[in-house]
Amino acid sequence: MTRLIIGAMIRTIGAYPSGWRHPGAHRDPRQDAAVLRRAAEVAESARLDYLFFGDWLATGPDLEWRDPHLLARVDPLSAIAYLAGVTERIGLIATVNTSYADPYAIARATASADLLSGGRAGVNLVTGADLRVAENHGRDFAATNESRYDRAHEFETVLRRLWDSFEDDAFVADADSGVLLDPAKLHDARFSGAHLSVDGSLNAVRPVQGHVPIMHSGSSARSRLFAATSADLALVAVSGWQQAAAVREELRSLAFESGRDDRTLKVVVPILPIIGETREHAQQIADELSGLVRIADDWDGEPPAGFPGNRSLASVSHLIGLNVAGLDPDDPVTPSLVSAFSPAGQELVEIVAERTGRAPSGEHPPTLRHLVVAASFSASIIVGTGAEVAAELAAWGDAGAVDGFNVLSATQPAQFEAFATQAVPELQRLGVFPAEYEGTTLRDHLGLGRPGNVHVSPHDPRFPPVFARRCAATSGAFEVV
Ligand SMILES: Cc1cc2nc3c(=O)[nH]c(=O)nc-3n(C[C@H](O)[C@H](O)[C@H](O)COP(=O)(O)O)c2cc1C
Repeated sequence: MTRLIIGAMIRTIGAYPSGWRHPGAHRDPRQDAAVLRRAAEVAESARLDYLFFGDWLATGPDLEWRDPHLLARVDPLSAIAYLAGVTERIGLIATVNTSYADPYAIARATASADLLSGGRAGVNLVTGADLRVAENHGRDFAATNESRYDRAHEFETVLRRLWDSFEDDAFVADADSGVLLDPAKLHDARFSGAHLSVDGSLNAVRPVQGHVPIMHSGSSARSRLFAATSADLALVAVSGWQQAAAVREELRSLAFESGRDDRTLKVVVPILPIIGETREHAQQIADELSGLVRIADDWDGEPPAGFPGNRSLASVSHLIGLNVAGLDPDDPVTPSLVSAFSPAGQELVEIVAERTGRAPSGEHPPTLRHLVVAASFSASIIVGTGAEVAAELAAWGDAGAVDGFNVLSATQPAQFEAFATQAVPELQRLGVFPAEYEGTTLRDHLGLGRPGNVHVSPHDPRFPPVFARRCAATSGAFEVV
């Protein structure tokens, strides 16, 4: 059995677009502090490996319909600093967008979070591009977008050089002799690249973990290369376990080709379980959530500006091969209607049946709304009991498809707690997830060693020299001066 890495992707008002509308769900971001704290307690009781905080640096009213959790949320670095003080064992990963962030400030904030948490911090480096983000930061969108992965590669190199400014034993702290620091063990970052330039040393001690584990989330070829050369943990979105296996294989091959020990790159995928006491109960929850999603046809005229273009009867008509635009979204999907659907449309009907228990020939057939919602929401959803969800996750691990999962919760706190208290014990019973924390740092939880200092042991086999890795991996030219 493969030991899975299990982290929770925290979205306080729920990861499902209508999660916040579900009875009892948290829905007011002004109360997020209490929800974060409670989620951390629950996650730590379940021995989860980490809490993960995504981020997006722009907002607008249109996000209410697509990704309501993006409207307003606690800044990820602030969230992990807060939770460092109220947790003891769980890892804490904050997302940082390398296109807009300042590497010196991020090196300092992450080193500080690592110190404050006793070695439990992680950073998810992303390059997500959006016109509004560029405008919020006074940057040229096209230029920033063009070079975002070149800058990300430099960003990672700079982080490691800054984190290693002080050697582990640089502080002598000898009160008798009056020697606080061994100056030979303090190093300047000395980096000059096309996008970033850093001269001196960091004003924070070397992280407890040596280097704070670096995660990367993305999907393009450049993203894969970045994960393979520069990340400890890759978060990739996939459609199923076969694709996950192929992506993991590709990432590990790229990592090996870059001169790295490919086993040190862990691959996790996002998954959204909907859990009930019985399978029927879980399907009922999935059905309720689906029914609470608004679609374009709910408005008499045009939907609000920015409403997701793929959430309408007109849009699903293309997929199912039958024009249903203009019908009532709550009309039943009957067997005779389905017989006129394309193969993709018939597959969609099966997905809805599996998730909600509604079959066209059954007592409660699905509606057109169910089809629109299922077609417009791309998350990997597993509906079932805690044991069924656990068995599915374990099967992915045993198939070599993943090293673990970033678990999304449709609602807070109910679905998050259902995963923690019903699925995790089953994972532990199956022997794919430990019942107790086995180490103290996030690196321990991820099964990763502690890297050497790039200024001292650039040829440490656990950490190949950044410059050599970069030459092999990218055409980007920069130098360590
Ligand atoms: C599962 C997953 C989660 C992601 N989370 C974030 C995030 O929180 N913030 C962000 O800026 N980008 C995030 N990204 C990355 C952007 O979505 C990504 O940069 C964008 O899709 C463009 O793709 P590329 O970077 O691979 O070219 C995530 C990607 C994936 C696959």
